[in-house]
Amino acid sequence: MNRFILLIFVVIIGFSLLTEGWKKGRRHRKRKVTKFMHVSDVHFDLFYNQSISKDTSCRSTEGFKMADHEAPYGRIGCDSPEWLLESTLAAMKEKGKDAEFILLTGNLSAHDMTDDQGSPNVLKAIQTVSSKAHEVFHFFYPLCCFSSLDGKMVVLVPNAMYWNNNWQTYPLWDEIAERQLQWLAEQLALAKNKGKRVLIMSHIPPGGDPFNYNYFWIPKYAERYAILVAGKYHDVIAGQFYAHTHKDDFRLQILNTEDEKTSTKSFVLQTASVSPIYSNNPAFKVFTMRTDIQALVDYDQHYLDLEIATEFSNPVWKFDYTFSKRYPSKNKLINANRIDELSQKLISQTDAQYWNGYFMGTTANYFPSHYDRFGLYCIVRYVLEDDFHRCYDNFKVHN
Ligand SMILES: *[C@@H]1O[C@H](CO)[C@@H](O)[C@H](O)[C@H]1NC(C)=O
Ligand SMILES: *[C@@H]1O[C@H](CO)[C@@H](O)[C@H](O)[C@H]1NC(C)=O
Repeated sequence: MNRFILLIFVVIIGFSLLTEGWKKGRRHRKRKVTKFMHVSDVHFDLFYNQSISKDTSCRSTEGFKMADHEAPYGRIGCDSPEWLLESTLAAMKEKGKDAEFILLTGNLSAHDMTDDQGSPNVLKAIQTVSSKAHEVFHFFYPLCCFSSLDGKMVVLVPNAMYWNNNWQTYPLWDEIAERQLQWLAEQLALAKNKGKRVLIMSHIPPGGDPFNYNYFWIPKYAERYAILVAGKYHDVIAGQFYAHTHKDDFRLQILNTEDEKTSTKSFVLQTASVSPIYSNNPAFKVFTMRTDIQALVDYDQHYLDLEIATEFSNPVWKFDYTFSKRYPSKNKLINANRIDELSQKLISQTDAQYWNGYFMGTTANYFPSHYDRFGLYCIVRYVLEDDFHRCYDNFKVHN
């Protein structure tokens, strides 16, 4: 049974998908810029019911509560309905037309579906997400690692579940965690010898959880990983892509905190989830990368404003922001120095742009605290109280 579950998690994490653009990219090897997408945490819920309250996970299980309004596109506080999965794929196809590949960093199944009997609902969710992605992008190769991008870059997909303390992987984790670290070290050495640069992707990130300040990985593995990526091989790493927190986010990795200015560094980019369960709008990113210097240049975040979509029954995926415009810098690449600068500017006393942008970006523009958007709209607009109430009662989405 355990081996079976292990296999599932390898599959969950090990998706990097090649798209039609990849085929085209191979035919145009001379081009210097390539695009790819990062999407994550679909958490597709086979049992989503648009009429049921988030208090009972939008499922008609025993003792369920009805919601005050229907939410066919997805509901803040619940995992993703099939509509949201399909809509995300369609939006990716449109916004990432030229993308050569997609990084899909897990977690495909809804919450509370894992069990000791082989978790058939988890498997079914994985199967549905994969086959729908296949329908949209045609090319869909779940892989553990691949080398394309003019042969100068490699994508490595370790399974971070083994570096994270998790009951599902428990009986084997130490052995596999160890082997996997050795594999990673070998791959990085190989890339360095061949003059290649590396993208790393997995699900649960190294570093801390902004929600409760807990650190995810087992300390000894976090340390050894950091020594590899931010130490010996920092110049080999072009980017690390993780998710799991459901937030658009950044992580710097400084090795020598005694002397931060001269320390070697690396960085992680985390992407917001498709699932709105932890109070964020669904989002994904389209990256631009220079293949001549094997470096990340920029990205665009796109998102679906769920409350507006629900209120007006008009679901439209919108452009959110471009990294280089939101976080302007003399540095024209997304690299460790750039993320270092960004993190320092989050606590700038003179410039609020970085903080404001970061705060809005993390949830793809869903305000996480208690507030009522349509109430604000009505109060801005109407000077007399009765007019306010008339306006307010007109909207069905209230918080
Ligand atoms: C959603 O739940 C309601 C209340 O239990 C039920 O009447 C309805 O049939 C369910 N819808 C679907 C699609 O299952
Ligand atoms: C995916 O989400 C489910 C539900 O929360 C959880 O049980 C499982 O551990 C997650 N898997 C990963 C790889 O995070």
